[in-house]
Amino acid sequence: MSGSGASSGQAFGIDIGGTGIKGAPVDTATGELVTERKRILTPQPATPEAVAKVVAEMVSEAGWTGLIGATFPAVIKHGVAQSAANVDESWVGTDADKVFSEAVGPGSEVIVLNDADAAGIAEARFGAAKGVDGVVIMLTFGTGIGSALLMDGVLVPNTELGHLELDGYDAESRAAASVRDEHGMSYKKWAKRVNDYMTHVERLFTPDLFVVGGGVSKNADKWVPLLELKTPVKPAQLLNDAGIVGAALAAVDRLGE
Ligand code: BGC
Repeated sequence: MSGSGASSGQAFGIDIGGTGIKGAPVDTATGELVTERKRILTPQPATPEAVAKVVAEMVSEAGWTGLIGATFPAVIKHGVAQSAANVDESWVGTDADKVFSEAVGPGSEVIVLNDADAAGIAEARFGAAKGVDGVVIMLTFGTGIGSALLMDGVLVPNTELGHLELDGYDAESRAAASVRDEHGMSYKKWAKRVNDYMTHVERLFTPDLFVVGGGVSKNADKWVPLLELKTPVKPAQLLNDAGIVGAALAAVDRLGE
């Protein structure tokens, strides 16, 4: 299976996380995966070189040449990683676009963006925030807390709202989904923390809609109804595929004709 980038209406999306790297070609007009996604374990330590090798392997196994978008769980400014909250320190200052593009070889180009930003783009185009005007804030609850800020469907990248201060702590260390798992916390107790956090975000941005994603969004019925906010909250719709789809969309937006 091969693609020729924007002209074929397809791009390859890759979602890079702390434990797994998932990827598939995406039909960027419908947001659907063209083939089943592949998953490879994230190498440890997850240095830029080790991750680039896996990216290249995945792309070559799929027989893909053309546009490729990849997500990464850090601040990514014009392709360069600026932070490393839950990833290998050696990413800071790495030109991820360059490292990945060199690894996949000629005929392909890779653009890298923040993981929550990718999920936000996908939800705005095809999911819970489709057609919603005004300010939408997507929050992803996983190992950390990621955020995407969109205005009329246009992304303001790298907002990093997961690192706002909450009760004197880094918010993600209080309200990420991993904190619930580590402490065996009930949804009720965790939802209270999430509510405090989201109330803070709400005061700062007065959004028109919150979209909540990450692994816990598949159990949204257990905690979203417990939130007491003025802003409507919708669970993400693309679940596991949001990163892959958003990365592919970003590649076409950035590199396609
Ligand atoms: C990182 C963000 C990332 C989020 C979700 C945070 O710790 O700072 O860049 O989007 O985790 O992975």
